[in-house]
Amino acid sequence: MSIYCKHFAPILIGLGASLFVPAQAADLQAGEQASVACIACHAADGSTLLPEYPSLAGQGAKYLYDQMLHIRSGERNIPLMAGQLDTMSDETIANIAAWYASLTPRQGQALDMGNLEDGEQIYRAGITEKSVSACTACHSPSGTGNVPAGFPSLKGLSRTYLVQQLKAYREGERTTDERMGGMMRDTAHQLTDAEIEAVANYISGLL
Ligand code: HEC
Ligand code: HEC
Repeated sequence: MSIYCKHFAPILIGLGASLFVPAQAADLQAGEQASVACIACHAADGSTLLPEYPSLAGQGAKYLYDQMLHIRSGERNIPLMAGQLDTMSDETIANIAAWYASLTPRQGQALDMGNLEDGEQIYRAGITEKSVSACTACHSPSGTGNVPAGFPSLKGLSRTYLVQQLKAYREGERTTDERMGGMMRDTAHQLTDAEIEAVANYISGLL
């Protein structure tokens, strides 16, 4: 298996500056209380059944924290979440991140067998001729991501949500990877719709 990854150098250089450790100070109970407003869309156990919405259970705390700051500032524009985080302090957001990170992610869903092999190939080996990196390089072979680096876990995310995000990076609509050198836009802009469907299908059954 060949893993192509041109991003390792900037990641390693960037890591030292961006390490985030909310767990030290996090108050899980306060996080649970503050997340009551989120239940309608993200579910009480953090594993929503609504396919357009992301599950948050078991997601890395640093990733959740970073995304909530992007959502609060409007850098990641989520109209459905308008006003949700506006009045929350960084500390409250860190507590919420720690709360969701402590929950167990949902099991993988049924797979469409048609494009499973193509999806597995992209996930594990990338597409060498198009310089698409293997997803495993950053999201890990089991899909759990790289928690200290803030690379998200993909476990428990629905196929629909995965496809939406990959297309949003591809079209340049989601730019929250800016501080990470644009690595997801770089990866996604090479992918066709069929490749996105295949890799999302494979990932959605990873558990
Ligand atoms: C009305 C529905 C709704 C409510 C309420 C809501 N969210 Fe969301 N949230 C969404 C949707 C939809 C997305 C994904 C949008 C997209 O990028 O496609 C999202 C995305 C997120 C993400 C990014 C997840 C990822 O994997 O990148 C986080 C973190 C998040 N929400 C946290 C919260 C928190 C914390 C609250 C409560 C304070 C909350 N949300 C309330 C709908 C909602
Ligand atoms: C070089 C590292 C790297 C590689 C390779 C990589 N990713 Fe990512 N991925 C990231 C980072 C970092 C983020 C979060 C960026 C941000 O803040 O928006 C991310 C975010 C994502 C998200 C959004 C998750 C969410 O909860 O919203 C999806 C989906 C995703 N990647 C899928 C893939 C797939 C599929 C591949 C392989 C084709 C891949 N990634 C390859 C680093 C990588």
